[in-house]
Amino acid sequence: MRPIILKGNLVSLGMLLRDDLRQIWLWYNDREVRKYLSFPEEIFFYEDELEWYEALRREKKHEKVFAILENSSRSLVGLIGLHRIDHHNGHAELGYFIGREHWGYGYASEAVKLALEYAFEWLNLRKVYARVYEPNEASVKVLEKNGFTLAGRWRKHQYVPGEGFVDVLMYERFRD
Ligand SMILES: CC(C)(COP(=O)(O)OP(=O)(O)OC[C@H]1O[C@@H](n2cnc3c(N)ncnc32)[C@H](O)[C@@H]1OP(=O)(O)O)[C@@H](O)C(=O)NCCC(=O)NCCS
Repeated sequence: MRPIILKGNLVSLGMLLRDDLRQIWLWYNDREVRKYLSFPEEIFFYEDELEWYEALRREKKHEKVFAILENSSRSLVGLIGLHRIDHHNGHAELGYFIGREHWGYGYASEAVKLALEYAFEWLNLRKVYARVYEPNEASVKVLEKNGFTLAGRWRKHQYVPGEGFVDVLMYERFRD
């Protein structure tokens, strides 16, 4: 059992537990998941995950990371987070991933909807933004379906293994 922060139809945002870290460690090191995240080349030790978890707990005013839980099984399918929460300017950066075996079921789309609800209704932020590598069509869809619009791009800015230098798209979504 764990606290559920927000419940949707397919998935819920739950409290992240230390027991989730083994599964997260496996996904973080899956090259298909890693490819479109920050530092695609990186490998992570299990101890890095433990430190990251402790840092999240210490920095919870500026970082909120939720477990994405599938509702019928209550199992972990991914993570979603609001990062660099800036209470003065009222914005935060959104990041997320779904474990590869759970792709294509609509989980990310609903998790983003719930994270926006948390950002706007509970944190009272006015804007959420996200960075996406241009070839990541699934993630572009997830953002556009949730009302994000393209604010700009950094051209040939990020090296993605197997794809070379790609544009980084900057998406934003205001509360209203
Ligand atoms: C991007 C990601 C989060 C999507 O998760 P998901 O739960 O499979 O996404 P959803 O099922 O909610 O749907 C995504 C949409 O993209 C579409 N899609 C999926 N794969 C696609 C692909 N390869 N090309 C184009 N569209 C694709 C789906 O059809 C769906 O659109 P629809 O609702 O119109 O049918 C997941 O693939 C992932 O974790 N990737 C690695 C990490 C990552 O990229 N994180 C985001 C960084 S910005």
